[in-house]
Amino acid sequence: MSERTTTGTPVPWDGTTALVTGGAGLIGSHIVDAALARGWRVRVLDNLERQTHRNGRPDWVDDRVDFLRGDVRRRADWERALAGVDIVFHEAAYGGYMPEIAKFISVNSYGTALMLETIRDRNLPIRKVVMASSQAVYNEGAYACPEHGHFYGTTRPVAQLAASDYHVHCPRCDRPGEPVPTDEAAPMGGENVYAISKADQERLLITWGRSTGVPVVALRYSCTYGPRQSLFNPYTGVIAIFCTRLANGLPPVVYEDGRQSRDLVFVGDVARANMLVADDDRANGGVFNVGTGQAVAIGDLARLLADRLGVGIEPEIPGEFRPGEMRALVSDISKLAALGFRPVTALETGIGHYLDWIGTQGTIAEYFGAAERRLRKRQVVKRAAPAGVAGGTA
Ligand SMILES: NC(=O)c1ccc[n+]([C@@H]2O[C@H](COP(=O)([O-])OP(=O)(O)OC[C@H]3O[C@@H](n4cnc5c(N)ncnc54)[C@H](O)[C@@H]3O)[C@@H](O)[C@H]2O)c1
Ligand SMILES: [Zn+2]
Repeated sequence: MSERTTTGTPVPWDGTTALVTGGAGLIGSHIVDAALARGWRVRVLDNLERQTHRNGRPDWVDDRVDFLRGDVRRRADWERALAGVDIVFHEAAYGGYMPEIAKFISVNSYGTALMLETIRDRNLPIRKVVMASSQAVYNEGAYACPEHGHFYGTTRPVAQLAASDYHVHCPRCDRPGEPVPTDEAAPMGGENVYAISKADQERLLITWGRSTGVPVVALRYSCTYGPRQSLFNPYTGVIAIFCTRLANGLPPVVYEDGRQSRDLVFVGDVARANMLVADDDRANGGVFNVGTGQAVAIGDLARLLADRLGVGIEPEIPGEFRPGEMRALVSDISKLAALGFRPVTALETGIGHYLDWIGTQGTIAEYFGAAERRLRKRQVVKRAAPAGVAGGTA
């Protein structure tokens, strides 16, 4: 089960110490490995959030890491974690579609504020802070109208979704738009608490960077997947959720009509993007999309996974939707590409790596069903009218 990276000849220390918050998690742990591979010393600050790490410290946390079990909501933990550090990768966050409000804001927004305050108040000689933002900060993706060209969508009204109209309409002629890659200039304003907290984190960081002169970079990740994606947290990661269902002989539940699309990026590519902006001064003060630039329809993803797992299970499309969810979001990655970023892992290959890893994790229990019932009870998921019954958009 172990997949430690302690292989080959040790790389000599080049004097750099990195702090990776959330370093036990999916993205953080791959950043840890990339940093160790460069010969950096690495400290992790992670509270081993129970929802994500049901069995305590995961065995993929490399033995060479200076592991601080602590909480980003505690100043004393930041003081310990930041001492002697050159570069921070701030990945720790509370994520997904949980019904909590205060916890998102305290872990994500307040936690980031404490980090910035601690660095400033202690005058710590940090060389750079790289922070995990998210494509969730966008209100909707970018679209093209056949007549009026490029426009940025806005959140679809619940009444429109309830009438099974899932399109994003042109604001000028109301025709359905075609999704196109979304660039960093798209308006922010994602309408859920997670999105609000990620936007807070990003704006706090960028503004603080400007006022203190400390180099900062915010990376807006697309949907990230790969080995070490928590099987215990059923709220995040569509691939993990679908696989859990399929592995238990159950159909993945696909919202809307299954043609909503996402940009699915392999975790190794996200870790490389972090290393790239850590090194490149041209990134300083910037906000960058990190993704593949390719759209995958969620219904097709469910079928692809069923195929790869060798189970002939079609997705279930009950005509439900989650208010505030984007219809389509594909990252325009040209800004980061201009600094040399190229995602190298094709979806089929990345899914292969992920499924190989799942195979090493023993029996996958059926967590998703219970989570879904909880969400339903709290009305996070709503049911649409059958297509064509209710008309018009609100
Ligand atoms: N996975 C994605 O698709 C995705 C997409 C966009 C942005 N992001 C962002 O990337 C970052 C990493 O996400 P991930 O997918 O690796 O998530 P993850 O849940 O696998 O990892 C997050 C880690 O943070 C730790 N953590 C949570 N609360 C903490 C707290 N209060 N104090 C200290 N540590 C805490 C958890 O224990 C976990 O190890 C997050 O900031 C997330 O918002 C992720
Ligand atoms: Zn139009």
